[in-house]
Amino acid sequence: MSVQFSSAQFGGEFKPNYDESKVPEFEVPNPLKSFRKRKIKNVRQWEKIRRPELLDFFTHNVYGKIPGELKIESWEVVEQSNNALNGKARRKQVDLIFSKNGHRLFFNILIYLPKNVEKAPVFLGYNFYGNHTVTNDVHVRISEAWARNNPSFGIIHNQLTEQSRGVRENRWQLEKILDAGYGLATIFYCEVDPDKDDFSNGIHPLLYTDGQQRPAYNEWGAIAAWTWGLSRAMDYFEQDDEVDENKVIVFGHSRLGKTALWAGATDQRFAAVISNNSGCGGAALSKRRFGETVARINRSFPHWFCRNFMIFNQNEESLPVDQHELIALIAPRPVYVASAKEDLWADPRGEFLSAYYASPVYNLYEKEGIPSKEMPDVNQPVQNTVAYHIRTGKHDVTEFDWEQYILWADKELFNK
Ligand code: GCU
Repeated sequence: MSVQFSSAQFGGEFKPNYDESKVPEFEVPNPLKSFRKRKIKNVRQWEKIRRPELLDFFTHNVYGKIPGELKIESWEVVEQSNNALNGKARRKQVDLIFSKNGHRLFFNILIYLPKNVEKAPVFLGYNFYGNHTVTNDVHVRISEAWARNNPSFGIIHNQLTEQSRGVRENRWQLEKILDAGYGLATIFYCEVDPDKDDFSNGIHPLLYTDGQQRPAYNEWGAIAAWTWGLSRAMDYFEQDDEVDENKVIVFGHSRLGKTALWAGATDQRFAAVISNNSGCGGAALSKRRFGETVARINRSFPHWFCRNFMIFNQNEESLPVDQHELIALIAPRPVYVASAKEDLWADPRGEFLSAYYASPVYNLYEKEGIPSKEMPDVNQPVQNTVAYHIRTGKHDVTEFDWEQYILWADKELFNK
């Protein structure tokens, strides 16, 4: 299919709307009615008719299809210790290695596991600036992959440096996670695919057909590429006796929260999903056009989604789906959507409504979703199988957020 874009579709948007009274009227697509208007009344119909057609739509029109399979060729534990973090944890740094079409790729998973747990549940999430940023642990290796510049972290020539060790400690709360009996596994996302509009690098070329230079209109953008990496991490966990592969909670913040949701939708091995401030193309309803919109995101980040998604630039009303149905694809597995009060760009209300409108699908499975359309007060989480909170503060991941995720995971995965 060839798609024509007008310049208006690319650039014709002005100021973002932050006024609730200017949200256009729109109809929320019914997750329990198929594209052919058939009512979905039970789990069987959901799984046979509706889930596959929604998954297919998101695959070919939003995130893009992964054009083939690529398995781990080999892995190497490049470093490990049974006495990490002053004896609190075990640590492993594992390279997963892939090759195809004359290209080679590897990425490293940094894994911390609580010492007193034999097969640990883990939170798995990408980080923005390298594994060494999540902790001050001097043994964590510094990735040599391309990184986005951030002078305040000492990243100036797209190379990570020692200067940023531990700078994101507050976003990960490693000790809290370990004390609660969970492990943490994290990957520097640019090792899987550098976050820039360039499809000659990262994982994409390994799956190109002869002569292909960039993904086709319905093929994977960067978000789908990052989900590919999370699924390979899952493949690895299935081989690692120290990790409970049935209790892997995929977590992500912001663009990596969008990634976590799509990973949870496409790979049912993930036991639970956490979307922290994921916004447009993540948890937020696109049709509200509040804060970031489809046109804005496709213009600023043309490499994140598949090119077909641009059809919906300033044309959200023609989308036959919305992001609540992305969340519904995760059912019946637990999903947590979190917002921040000052993060209007990500549309907290749109994130909440997605969780709410996904809930009928959870109810089919007799799981409790978000029971009321009223948004809860700030810092007052609603924690059912579908969970939601809006906390005070800005676009970030905080100690409060992690405290909620741990409490909720204890309840949903361990009935605690
Ligand atoms: C930008 C982008 C958001 C994204 C965020 C992030 O603000 O517009 O869609 O979530 O970056 O990843 O930090």
